[in-house]
Amino acid sequence: MRFSILLSLSVLAPSIGLAAPASDLSAPTLDRRDESLYKRENLCKLKTPPITCQPNSSVTVEETALRAYKFYRAFVVDGDPKTMFSLIDSTYKQHHAGYASGPNAIWSLFCSGNKIGTEQSTSWCFDASTNMSYAKYSTTDRWLWVDGCVHEHWDQNETIPKDKCYKLPVNSTTTA
Ligand SMILES: *[C@@H]1O[C@H](CO)[C@@H](O)[C@H](O)[C@H]1NC(C)=O
Ligand SMILES: *[C@@H]1O[C@H](CO)[C@@H](O)[C@H](O)[C@H]1NC(C)=O
Ligand SMILES: *[C@@H]1O[C@H](CO)[C@@H](O)[C@H](O)[C@H]1NC(C)=O
Ligand SMILES: *[C@@H]1O[C@H](CO)[C@@H](O)[C@H](O)[C@H]1NC(C)=O
Repeated sequence: MRFSILLSLSVLAPSIGLAAPASDLSAPTLDRRDESLYKRENLCKLKTPPITCQPNSSVTVEETALRAYKFYRAFVVDGDPKTMFSLIDSTYKQHHAGYASGPNAIWSLFCSGNKIGTEQSTSWCFDASTNMSYAKYSTTDRWLWVDGCVHEHWDQNETIPKDKCYKLPVNSTTTA
């Protein structure tokens, strides 16, 4: 019973539930390493992602690097499907046999907000010379960023180019 009440609350109050992570992210006092502040969010009641990324050719390399970090956090560490899909464009071309392209095709894999690992046990990278970002956990994924959005995905034998990883400005991940 308690379980069903909680479920209905989350259905009745989607705007409250969905708005919280965004405001948390912009809170300047937030310590992103405090795992307890990042609760996984199950959005599987929705059949498609609540938002996807609108390509914008004015997005800078610096902003893209920060978005790549946010994408890694949302996907791997936080289990935050809303933020994750807000950074994926409508193309999301897949280079993985068996998966169709497009954000809707992978929504069911991520909508429950599973966390994959901690920031200590995983790693990420944005290579500005190729506009590729990477996330390493049990495997390594690679994504191409175009106009500020994740546009293509590979996950076959990828390797992080460790000497090319973009260094985010100090504190940008705690205040952005
Ligand atoms: C596109 O990106 C630029 C730079 O980040 C921003 O100033 C502008 O508001 C964005 N345009 C839209 C339509 O989001
Ligand atoms: C990477 O993206 C930026 C815009 O964010 C663009 O100016 C640059 O040409 C791109 N680099 C490559 C190698 O495609
Ligand atoms: C995977 O990548 C490594 C290093 O780049 C390479 O040595 C190896 O041959 C690749 N394996 C496959 C199956 O492509
Ligand atoms: C970064 O954050 C720390 C702790 O919040 C603060 O003491 C330091 O002044 C900040 N550094 C910059 C460059 O903003």
